[in-house]
Amino acid sequence: MKITVIGTGYVGLVSGTCLADVGNDVLCLDVDPAKIKILEEGGIPIFEPGLQDMVRRNVAAGRLHFTTDIERAAHFGTVQFIAVGTPPGEDGSADMKYVTAAARNIGKYMTDYKVVVDKSTVPVGTADAVRAAITEELQKRGVSTPFSVVSNPEFLKEGAAIDDFMKPDRIVVGCDDEQAAHNMRALYAPFQRNHDRMILMDIRSAELTKYAANAMLATRISFMNELANLAEKLGADIEHVRRGIGSDPRIGYDFLYAGAGYGGSCFPKDVKALIKTAAVDAGIHLKVLNAVEEANDLQKHVLANKIKARFGADLTGKHFALWGLAFKANTDDMREATSREVIKDLIAAGATVTAYDPVASAEAKHCFPNELRLSYADNQNAALDNADALVIVTEWKEFRSPDFDNLKAKLRNPIIFDGRNLYDPKTVRGLGFEYLAIGR
Ligand code: NAI
Repeated sequence: MKITVIGTGYVGLVSGTCLADVGNDVLCLDVDPAKIKILEEGGIPIFEPGLQDMVRRNVAAGRLHFTTDIERAAHFGTVQFIAVGTPPGEDGSADMKYVTAAARNIGKYMTDYKVVVDKSTVPVGTADAVRAAITEELQKRGVSTPFSVVSNPEFLKEGAAIDDFMKPDRIVVGCDDEQAAHNMRALYAPFQRNHDRMILMDIRSAELTKYAANAMLATRISFMNELANLAEKLGADIEHVRRGIGSDPRIGYDFLYAGAGYGGSCFPKDVKALIKTAAVDAGIHLKVLNAVEEANDLQKHVLANKIKARFGADLTGKHFALWGLAFKANTDDMREATSREVIKDLIAAGATVTAYDPVASAEAKHCFPNELRLSYADNQNAALDNADALVIVTEWKEFRSPDFDNLKAKLRNPIIFDGRNLYDPKTVRGLGFEYLAIGR
């Protein structure tokens, strides 16, 4: 099948590459010429395990192409995936300007039947807006080329994106016509494995499903974070509590880890957008989700608050080693990362910070341009030089079993603030560390 993917970010590039890998002819469009240049030169503009090799393999096989040419992209695919960003607008609602522009570009140039697929996370009603934008462009041209609009939200996780796309738990497709449903079935047939994973539904339900999934996951995190704060005050250990409740199959173990708040390109913005959609479009105040967001905003300051409680509110002259910048392991994504708040808080209190992340330092430099109080180390050991304490923000594997003797020798004080609960408190404290984790 011929497929155009509009937007070559985390979702578009992974989707396009995986669709090429199963034999489709895929053209990826982006309006950012720098991204397309990197791709044309054999690189990739993001960090995602396994993606570089897969891109190269499919480019070499002649199934994967990149362009900034909007007209060519609109002609190319029978299926046109919209995978552009939907960042939060000033009021918290999803900013739809990129989606609308992508839809208009399709309408401006398409000359035969298209299945236009919303893969971006978009508010309920977006398919109608996409349909209206394309129709308007067709009318301007005085043509009535047929097209369908489908909602097909993406559930991949950065860091495990290829596996998630190639072996999905579910493929949600919101569709209101047979021809588009037929196309989507054919497109996803190679990803079904041993049983049908496609869940067909109406378009609005599909749009809401994506927000509901992320809102549920964010809720679990904020719930556990609040309980962690409580456990700490009551002398309990949230890790024991997690195992105790996770063993109930109605609850399950996944996504029950307490930490220093959720970040990333999805949960914060999607929770905000759902709250906003509910309020504006339906007149409903979502009490639970508002609390989830409020709890998370506070949680992102928990690490810095612990540091200030230990060293005093004025951190002038103090220096901290920070392990982990990305919002989670296995990605270089810094969008809404907790590290940003921790660094801002520490610097505002007068401290200096040396950070190490296996892949996200370049992104972090964009977030903190000209910040003289923040420096970057080339490895986790170098970050420890002259530090008054170690602060762990991201759960990279390489942070899980450090050389504690070396840590103790390098740090000015043997103190670890662990925002990811990576270590067993008894063991670390037994080694002579002051260990301040989350909820333990
Ligand atoms: P991103 O910001 O990494 O990439 C978006 C790309 O679209 C950028 O390269 C941008 O230059 C390009 N673009 C913008 N307007 C365009 C246009 N008119 N034509 C062509 N290209 C255009 O975004 P990301 O993270 O890939 O997310 C895309 C959507 O997928 C969002 O709605 C997001 O919520 C959703 N999503 C993201 C996931 C993630 O893990 N990042 C997971 C599941 C869904």
